[in-house]
Amino acid sequence: MTINQNDTDFNQKENDMNQKGINLNQNGIDINEHVPKREPQRQRYFMSRCKELVQAKERELGRKLTFHDQTFGCQMNFKDSEKLNGILEEIGYVPIDSEDADFVYYNTCTVRENANIRVYGRLGTLKTYKKKNPQMIIAMCGCMMQEEEEVQKVKDVYQFVDIVFGTHNIFKLAELLYECLTSRARIFDVWEKTDLIIEDLPSDRKLRFKAGVNIMFGCNNFCSYCIVPYVRGRERSRKPEDIVAEVERLAREGVVEVMLLGQNVNSYGKNLEHPVSFAQLLQMVEKVEGIERIRFMTSHPKDLSDELIEVMAASKKICRHLHLPVQSGSTHLLKLMNRHYTKEQYLELVQKLREAMPDLSLTTDIIVGFPGETEEDFQETLDIVRKAEYDSAFTFLYSKRSGTPAAKMEGQVPDAVAYERFGRLLKVVGETARERNARLLGKTELVLAEEIDEKDASMITGRLSNNNVVHFKADTSVIGKIVPVVLEEAKGFYYIGRLSDG
Ligand code: 5AD
Ligand code: SF4
Repeated sequence: MTINQNDTDFNQKENDMNQKGINLNQNGIDINEHVPKREPQRQRYFMSRCKELVQAKERELGRKLTFHDQTFGCQMNFKDSEKLNGILEEIGYVPIDSEDADFVYYNTCTVRENANIRVYGRLGTLKTYKKKNPQMIIAMCGCMMQEEEEVQKVKDVYQFVDIVFGTHNIFKLAELLYECLTSRARIFDVWEKTDLIIEDLPSDRKLRFKAGVNIMFGCNNFCSYCIVPYVRGRERSRKPEDIVAEVERLAREGVVEVMLLGQNVNSYGKNLEHPVSFAQLLQMVEKVEGIERIRFMTSHPKDLSDELIEVMAASKKICRHLHLPVQSGSTHLLKLMNRHYTKEQYLELVQKLREAMPDLSLTTDIIVGFPGETEEDFQETLDIVRKAEYDSAFTFLYSKRSGTPAAKMEGQVPDAVAYERFGRLLKVVGETARERNARLLGKTELVLAEEIDEKDASMITGRLSNNNVVHFKADTSVIGKIVPVVLEEAKGFYYIGRLSDG
């Protein structure tokens, strides 16, 4: 879907972009004159043009222009927002915590319905700010904007939204912003799909010592409940040399921990011109000097290879944590979910992992109330939680996403039944987590000190290799360092510890 509005003539197909681009804007300026056709040069060009406009505005107002982002959803979206923020900062906007800013964008999520509701709930408040500051620009992007009906709703109901773009063209923010600033037209530019991966654009990291790195985009799995393949498109892997170059740059900038990001990292590299497995990629990243910890997310159980288990077990840098979404313990439901494994196969995999890495922490995602879920199916889920002994689990009530096969399935579970099961599941997850958590009590573990504890400013919050959280007394000088911490109290999902003097 590419949506055009007013007289902004936006490119219809992703690959047309480089040939056509924008022609005339509302003021009749041919902004394509001298515009580079190739990326990322084209976006660099628009960044500098936007910068000129922003500087002129600053002189007029006698102050800096500001931006604010609201990001919903998963790590992919947060990573995308870092890229958008990098572009905005390059243009000259200054980040602020308030939505009372000159440029505000919402990076949306649509994986479950309540994510959509939250976005619209908040959006209304922006209208008041815009009344006060009519120059304000409001943009919406992310997964929700890949859905035609949502874009239509923004068009019709939320007319104060200036720019709408999707997940495939976030790299184009500067170009869209330039068009908006010069024409003040509403800009709608959503691509149905893409095979482009644009490298070498700015990115703004929240933490100086820890960074997410995209290794692939999209998903080919089409789990029957999930909207992600429809809004994020087909799997595309970045070239290993581009990934390694980014990790090397991050290491030079002081990053010690990288999180490799993809919807299904275990199928990384299969479609590259020169195929590379995920395990091979990990070995390449491991060689980067200065990087001390490597994490990755998310692993689909059906694609987790023996090669990966071997590489993980032999590695000193790959963290002892695996997020391995199970979704359900019922083989019958797993089939309906299109997950391609049975309960038994999943448990065999867990056993193999535990044999290779006895200190591995395992976390998961579970959906309750999938269509057709009976009490027996649910009991299978409780059983797999006990047997797999998860360190923690993200639990979700099934949410019907229109366009997915599950939305049309028979036996939609009544809300009250799903809620009741959800409560029971939380209890069992809590019990297994507490048992697992207690195992490290009294031990000294290496911890990456990450931030000041939100609840107690005299404490620091850090993470163990296995991703568990620990709060311990220390001053801020430890932040960004890997330090030994004695785990003194196990609190279920986290620890209280003290810096080891040994
Ligand atoms: N309803 C509930 N949970 C969902 N997830 C994905 N789609 C849905 C849905 N329609 C969950 C899955 C996935 C996680 C990211 O979100 O558990 O692993
Ligand atoms: Fe959705 Fe399944 Fe792809 Fe994960 S693997 S993003 S749950 S379709």
